Amino acid sequence: MTKISPSILSADFANLKEEILDVERGGADYIHVDVMDGQFVPNITMGPLVVKAIRPVTKLPLDVHLMIKNPDKFIHEFVEVGADILTVHAEASPHLDRTIQTIKDAGIKAGVVINPATPVALIQHVLPNVDLVLLMTVNPGFGGQSFIHYVLNKVEEVDKLRKEQGLRFEIEVDGGVNADTAKLCKDAGVDVLVAGSAIFNQRDRAKAIASIRNG
Ligand code: DX5
Ligand code: ZN
Repeated sequence: MTKISPSILSADFANLKEEILDVERGGADYIHVDVMDGQFVPNITMGPLVVKAIRPVTKLPLDVHLMIKNPDKFIHEFVEVGADILTVHAEASPHLDRTIQTIKDAGIKAGVVINPATPVALIQHVLPNVDLVLLMTVNPGFGGQSFIHYVLNKVEEVDKLRKEQGLRFEIEVDGGVNADTAKLCKDAGVDVLVAGSAIFNQRDRAKAIASIRNG
């Protein structure tokens, strides 16, 4: 079954605990945490303190998406505060192999992510070392943007490499996911759908999650 990772970027920050419990009750599989530094992306959001605060709130794995320059500097801090999956942008990691190894050595799952216009070739050689490949379906920085369709070709490309090499990482997409685009993603080989506004902007989160999962 396709997993759903609600992005708390679109949650009510003044009620973060209730918002997380609501999507957990509603059937979420992961909680997606968008960390932005105002450098790698043109927005600033949250950091390790927020991860620390929400860790005791939920049993769900925390799927932490680092949109920051020099992610190596902060890996240990995010591991300490309870991230379960730490995903780094290939574009922000000049020593990507080392960065992934550092995450794995710390005992958590390592993910790698590329922007829409970044070719799959950039991450091809690290595929055997990762637990998750995130393909951005918007340019990162903000919630509520439109899905970029050409990324579906990259999903198929990564899925093909995964099959050819007998690898087991999950393929995740992030940005512009709703019931309509979710269907296209699943058909292309996606295992985990991140959705922010399509879940948190709806009153009934269980219904929103179900319609994305079954869309
Ligand atoms: C974008 C973030 C996404 C964002 C998705 O930079 O990485 O996780 O929250 O929001 P929606 O689902 O509204 O496009
Ligand atoms: Zn994200």
